[in-house]
Amino acid sequence: MAGDRTRAIHVGEEPHRHPHGDVVAPLHMATTFAKESLGEVEQGYVYARTRNPTRDALEEKLAALEGARFATAYSSGMAAIATLLLALLKKGDTIVAGDDLYGGTRRLFTHVMAKFGVRVVYVDTTSAHVLAEALEEHRPRILWVETPSNPLLKITDLREASRLAHEVGALLVVDNTFATPVFQKPLELGADIVVHSLTKYIAGHSDVLGGALITNDPKLHDMLAFHQNAVGAVLGAPDAWLVLRGAKTLPLRMRVHEENARAVAELLQDSAKVKRVYYPGLPDHPGHVVARRQMRGYGGMVSADLGEAGRAARLVECLRLFHLAESLGGVESLVEIPALMTHASVPPEERRRLGIGEGLVRFSVGLEDTDDLVEDLTRCLEQL
Ligand SMILES: Cc1ncc(COP(=O)(O)O)c(C=O)c1O
Repeated sequence: MAGDRTRAIHVGEEPHRHPHGDVVAPLHMATTFAKESLGEVEQGYVYARTRNPTRDALEEKLAALEGARFATAYSSGMAAIATLLLALLKKGDTIVAGDDLYGGTRRLFTHVMAKFGVRVVYVDTTSAHVLAEALEEHRPRILWVETPSNPLLKITDLREASRLAHEVGALLVVDNTFATPVFQKPLELGADIVVHSLTKYIAGHSDVLGGALITNDPKLHDMLAFHQNAVGAVLGAPDAWLVLRGAKTLPLRMRVHEENARAVAELLQDSAKVKRVYYPGLPDHPGHVVARRQMRGYGGMVSADLGEAGRAARLVECLRLFHLAESLGGVESLVEIPALMTHASVPPEERRRLGIGEGLVRFSVGLEDTDDLVEDLTRCLEQL
């Protein structure tokens, strides 16, 4: 099997597939496809919600990057997650989920799925003992894990989580947005389905929304593909094309994101103004040993607790190269305060319990020159 860089460039874009030998997948805009006779109306491409050649090319590339057989692509990460929940759950089912999750995922679980009689139990999935007890007690249909998690960069042992989930007949779903397939391949570690917000590192340029569900299981894939078409929250062809273009450089970008994130994490750790740094690449991170075992790199996300709201606010407003904005995974560095921005929808008492206070700052470290990022951050830390 080819390496990640080769797969990222070639899969889905083979010139022999295209009549003129295009070396990149062409953008197919047609929403419908004409047939010569009634006998052919169900053959090949029929209607673009069901299948479209540009989206097909991307789905092949995404599956290849995760070392998987199948992928389906959606109009956003949340559209992928909503489709997965509609495909797999029914009234009375339970989700056991990690307690540190993207706020939008939590909002969907708690405020939307509850209306359909689906129960969600949040637990600390980084503790095998806590996880085993929760799975035994609640017997969920799905165990939902983000690792590294958003925004506290918690690490869950995926081999252990998959063993425990399968013991009680649950499916392990892993949101791999932060790590990307370059740094972690959850299906190889026992996960059943991988979720991505393509909006982030995979597209990589902060100019397109997208989501994906990836699996090796043909039955699960058939269910997901059926619901992809039935629900219709699909990725449009121009957006699929942009993601295809971005994904080609994903392995190269991830190395530099990581190099810069390490420099930022170390700088923050050396500052007396910072109470605590969360980065799985730091040896004193509680998940470092597991991360070293199951990941090929630690990623580009860093969080830091500045201890109080005023100090965090002054830091994010002082920075020049790190733009104050939600989202992550683009070439440009971003900074945000989760309690006020990405995780504002998490109830305040829950945020406090988890350690997501107004002093917590999350950095999406971009691809700028390391020295320039260090200079910007050093200047602002000195001014606090
Ligand atoms: C870990 C994670 N999963 C899913 C999502 C949702 O993706 P999207 O914004 O593409 O809907 C996000 C968005 O920030 C995220 O950070």
